[in-house]
Amino acid sequence: MNWCLVFFLIHHVMTCNINGESHCQLSSSVSGEDAKHCMEDVYTNLTNGDFQDSVKAMENLEDVLEMTKVVNTTSIYSGNLVALLNKPNSSTSLTIHANNSEAKLDTVPNSKVIVQLPSVLGAGPNNTLVFCMVTVPKTNLTLLEAAGSIYEGRLVGLSVSGKKVSGLQEHVNITMNVTTAINETQEPMCVFLNFSTKNYSSDGCQTLWRRGQTHITCSCDHLTYFGVLMVNSSPSPSDQKILSYITLIGCSLSLFGLSITVLLFISHKKFRADVSMKVHISLVFALILLNVHFLPSEMVAALSSTSLCVYMALALHYSLLATFSWMALEGFHLYLLLVRVFNIYIRRYLLKLSVVGWGVPAVIVSLVVIIDRTAYGYTPVDSSNPNGTAICYVTNTTAMMVTTMGMIGLVFLFNVIMLGVTVRRFISLRQGQETNRSSTKKDIFTLLGISTLLGITWGVGFFSVTTAGQYVFCILNSLQGFFIFLWFAMSLRKGQKSAAEVSNATQSTTEPKNRK
Ligand SMILES: *[C@@H]1O[C@H](CO)[C@@H](O)[C@H](O)[C@H]1NC(C)=O
Ligand SMILES: *[C@@H]1O[C@H](CO)[C@@H](O)[C@H](O)[C@H]1NC(C)=O
Ligand SMILES: *[C@@H]1O[C@H](CO)[C@@H](O)[C@H](O)[C@H]1NC(C)=O
Ligand SMILES: *[C@@H]1O[C@H](CO)[C@@H](O)[C@H](O)[C@H]1NC(C)=O
Ligand SMILES: *[C@@H]1O[C@H](CO)[C@@H](O)[C@H](O)[C@H]1NC(C)=O
Ligand SMILES: *[C@@H]1O[C@H](CO)[C@@H](O)[C@H](O)[C@H]1NC(C)=O
Ligand SMILES: *[C@@H]1O[C@H](CO)[C@@H](O)[C@H](O)[C@H]1NC(C)=O
Ligand SMILES: *[C@@H]1O[C@H](CO)[C@@H](O)[C@H](O)[C@H]1NC(C)=O
Ligand SMILES: *[C@@H]1O[C@H](CO)[C@@H](O)[C@H](O)[C@H]1NC(C)=O
Ligand SMILES: *[C@@H]1O[C@H](CO)[C@@H](O)[C@H](O)[C@H]1NC(C)=O
Ligand SMILES: *[C@@H]1O[C@H](CO)[C@@H](O)[C@H](O)[C@H]1NC(C)=O
Ligand SMILES: *[C@@H]1O[C@H](CO)[C@@H](O)[C@H](O)[C@H]1NC(C)=O
Repeated sequence: MNWCLVFFLIHHVMTCNINGESHCQLSSSVSGEDAKHCMEDVYTNLTNGDFQDSVKAMENLEDVLEMTKVVNTTSIYSGNLVALLNKPNSSTSLTIHANNSEAKLDTVPNSKVIVQLPSVLGAGPNNTLVFCMVTVPKTNLTLLEAAGSIYEGRLVGLSVSGKKVSGLQEHVNITMNVTTAINETQEPMCVFLNFSTKNYSSDGCQTLWRRGQTHITCSCDHLTYFGVLMVNSSPSPSDQKILSYITLIGCSLSLFGLSITVLLFISHKKFRADVSMKVHISLVFALILLNVHFLPSEMVAALSSTSLCVYMALALHYSLLATFSWMALEGFHLYLLLVRVFNIYIRRYLLKLSVVGWGVPAVIVSLVVIIDRTAYGYTPVDSSNPNGTAICYVTNTTAMMVTTMGMIGLVFLFNVIMLGVTVRRFISLRQGQETNRSSTKKDIFTLLGISTLLGITWGVGFFSVTTAGQYVFCILNSLQGFFIFLWFAMSLRKGQKSAAEVSNATQSTTEPKNRK
């Protein structure tokens, strides 16, 4: 078969459809049959025409349906368009149920939409109430692409012939079942198509929906074409303000705690002699660098100094990467302690750790600079709002994703495995012994402390997109430094006995001369 011929045929069919005699002729009285043909035409325009054409076609259809002769109740359908015409004969409220092929004043199987109309619409014998539902397949979204995506490509049209219904006391309720899962990053918003602006708008419409609910209700004070638009859910401005205060307070507390920790380390010989503590204090230094550069970042971005912003961006990226690499080294160190209970003595252990911990981030930052000189500087927090809050960070999105997200992902995975190994080790250690409450409590505290050192909380943020998740992430992470301080303080209080079992084991791991 010749492809040219196929193309010609398709082209011809399309041309015929569009240029053929229009069935959407307005006359004082349109027959049901004509209305049906009109619906077919309109559907062709909806799937083939551009946005303006689609809106025009729908406006046209609405007029035709309003003029259609109807005695009591007429239901018409054609393809993915269903309509119900009703002459309300008294002032009672109506409920319309519709599935993909029929609309009724009664329940229908596989119902997709339920519309509740207030009684004031029962307008009189001369008025026709028009209900119309169009479902445009995802593959032909011309009508819908204008404003993101309409849920399941469905629009519900409502009108009363010869009347402009707006400012209703009792709202019109349009309820749709959630049959296509709603993405975690999105939330529905009820909108209507304003024929005069040829755009979607949400004025006068409320969206009644909570995450997890099985249906979405649009409650509106007027009639027209309604749809449910999926919009990206991001923290609201007020949430963002609260989050930034939490960050400010958490980071300040952390910075304070971390500084005290350094003082404790310097002033206690016991800490300085302990290899584990030396690893911890390196992480503490990385966290101090991170907090020192993160706290004023927003302020520096607001200044107009480019070079200062580039410095801040470089330093912030470096200290963030250093924090991750030291968290990974904490995991590695823990592994050596607990599992290898060391058969290997590693020469210059701490020096080697330091080369990795401080060197790898330096290499990554240098690589980014070599590849893209302009990669650091003024970065809006929300890329869709370039005039909103900004910090000094990696502007190159790819570099940011690969280094930051990639590093978080890898370190998180590695440390979760390390934590798993630790938990198993604890369980097997305790198996022989009789467990009492205080030892279990101690184990739980130790595990919590270890989780903090391993940065397990960073993973919470990595996988959280909900507002609640962002709060948890924000609180835990900004306080990480403070938790580490608490841990130091507690191991100090416990006195000579142990700076956690972990630390005792280390001494023997890396300093074999201490072993018998
Ligand atoms: C469909 O689009 C064509 C061209 O854009 C227009 O002439 C025709 O009237 C439209 N049909 C309907 C039903 O609006
Ligand atoms: C319309 O309703 C009236 C009374 O409710 C009934 O007598 C008549 O048969 C109905 N007509 C149609 C076409 O259903
Ligand atoms: C119209 O009103 C009559 C009496 O008022 C009632 O019996 C009939 O069921 C109504 N028809 C519709 C379609 O509501
Ligand atoms: C819609 O409801 C009618 C009965 O009102 C039923 O015959 C039809 O099969 C239903 N369509 C779908 C797609 O379920
Ligand atoms: C949603 O589905 C349930 C059954 O699954 C049905 O009873 C209900 O009428 C549907 N609601 C809508 C708005 O379609
Ligand atoms: C629509 O829902 C609102 C709030 O749930 C309710 O107050 C109103 O009466 C409903 N409207 C109709 C026509 O049922
Ligand atoms: C309905 O229409 C007829 C003729 O068009 C008119 O005489 C009558 O007054 C109208 N009734 C109402 C309630 O508008
Ligand atoms: C969808 O749109 C494309 C081009 O926009 C058109 O070629 C195709 O025929 C349309 N599909 C349907 C089912 O109308
Ligand atoms: C959510 O939607 C975004 C963009 O539309 C997409 O990239 C992402 O994969 C979706 N997530 C899920 C879990 O479906
Ligand atoms: C549609 O937009 C126009 C112009 O902005 C506005 O005057 C009108 O009130 C809007 N229609 C509705 C139903 O809100
Ligand atoms: C339609 O409305 C959206 C948001 O309300 C707006 O961003 C967009 O520019 C508008 N489009 C047109 C063509 O007016
Ligand atoms: C950002 O601000 C500039 C000028 O200050 C303005 O031209 C631009 O439209 C604004 N962009 C947004 C998305 O607000």
